Amino acid sequence: SVIILDFGSQYTQLIARRVREAGVYSEIHPCTLELDKIRELDPQAIILSGGPASVTDSESPSIDPEIFTWGIPVLGICYGMQLTAKLLGGEIAPARDREYGRSEIEFCGNTALWKDLNAGKKLNVWMSHGDKVLTPPPGFSVVGKTETVEVAAMADENRRIYCLQFHPEVMHTEQGEAILGNFLFHIAGLTAGWSMSSFVDSVIPALREQIGDAQVVCGLSGGIDSTVVAALLHQAIGKRLHCIFVDNGLLRKNEAQEVIGFLREHFDLNLIHVQAQDLFLNRLQGVSDPEEKRKIIGHTFIEVFDKEAKAIPGVSFLAQGTLYPDVIESESFKGPSAVIKSHHNVGGLPEKMNLALVEPLRELFKDEVRKVAQQLGMPDSIVWRHPFPGPGLAIRIIGEITKERLDVLKEADAIVTSELKATNWYYKVWQGFAVLLPLKTVGVMGDERTYESVIALRIVDSVDAMTADWSRIPSEVLARISNRIINEVKGVNRVVLDISSKPPSTIEWE
Ligand code: XMP
Repeated sequence: SVIILDFGSQYTQLIARRVREAGVYSEIHPCTLELDKIRELDPQAIILSGGPASVTDSESPSIDPEIFTWGIPVLGICYGMQLTAKLLGGEIAPARDREYGRSEIEFCGNTALWKDLNAGKKLNVWMSHGDKVLTPPPGFSVVGKTETVEVAAMADENRRIYCLQFHPEVMHTEQGEAILGNFLFHIAGLTAGWSMSSFVDSVIPALREQIGDAQVVCGLSGGIDSTVVAALLHQAIGKRLHCIFVDNGLLRKNEAQEVIGFLREHFDLNLIHVQAQDLFLNRLQGVSDPEEKRKIIGHTFIEVFDKEAKAIPGVSFLAQGTLYPDVIESESFKGPSAVIKSHHNVGGLPEKMNLALVEPLRELFKDEVRKVAQQLGMPDSIVWRHPFPGPGLAIRIIGEITKERLDVLKEADAIVTSELKATNWYYKVWQGFAVLLPLKTVGVMGDERTYESVIALRIVDSVDAMTADWSRIPSEVLARISNRIINEVKGVNRVVLDISSKPPSTIEWE
């Protein structure tokens, strides 16, 4: 595998994804990982990530230069390059200005990294750096330069150490994939064997080994992550998996039926469908503060789930759909003042239940989970389902939640989904949904004045939900959604479109 040592770059995850996309398994570890631990991982190649620090600062993160003597190919990117230069005896110029964005690199030497690139003498690349290397260490030759950076790429072919001042992992770098490919295949001699079918083949025996003959409980939410967890565990341990689906009444229209229907049809699962709609609604009565709603829903979920799980004899494991970004988030390198945040998909559940965790998706990115789902034969409606918040429709009704408001929102939301699907926009946007506003505005229907609710449409593009922009949906599609909602959903006489980006807005309205 490829080990990526993380110095805190915002692009570290991207490096891991690009390597995996090339078919090679990669893992991210903090740069502070001890030398013998790195050795134990038995890497076939090591990548040193970028990072925000300056190598000229005495406190800046570093590694033991011994790794350069192991004979394992090393690729240093940005900060990883500057650090390599510093540790091996090169000369660094401290930053006067930061350079950020597009730049043009000119090849000025031969290296295995540039092998068979589909490029002339120059490439558009993405740079983001402060310090730069002035003189490469002994043994290195300069293989790329830009107008402002004399040493933009350097290579020591004998020791197989390669350094790039630009970021091959970002989309804006031309031929970035080919450069990484040269490092992985041509230089490190790796072969592309990591795929989602190899993941499934290896995870099933690993689950059997971890679980032994114990019983496992798993919460199903309707989302892709928990559905894939359940499907994998079912393959691994069959009837010793017990799934609990808590219907809190805050799900989208037909959601419970769709998910449960699919699972029942394809897997002979132990599936407990808890009808807890009234309990949740009662507890939410009169509550309009969003954080209060979240807390009530979270606590009630744990209470219901715990009660059901305790009724199953002999359960000792809880299966969760934790993904790799959550794992990296809690382990990543954030400098000396780092506050390590622990992550739980269902806050507080594992502590409360005193169960050991099974997390078969801990190594995967979201797009890889989607591929596993496809591999397992799941339909598009599950594979490409939009993310849905744990507190569900409760945070899409601004203010108090009532049964009537929920019914209105479910109908309006179902129209948004069906029209987006009918025009294929559903698969191009990150999320698209309706929000019910707690205000009434005037309208006319026939000869009568109406005084009814407003629905806001929230449809956004995003890659990770950290930032988002409103999707530019064609006006005909929006017109059809609006017409259908106003005509078909009783209690709504106005539809508005949310055109705010995140930040400073958020995706959800509460
Ligand atoms: P925001 O509104 O913060 O949403 O821009 C970012 C992403 O997170 C989802 N979201 C939640 N998911 N519990 C969840 O499980 C929550 O309380 C919650 N709030 C927001 C939201 O749907 C979007 O994908």
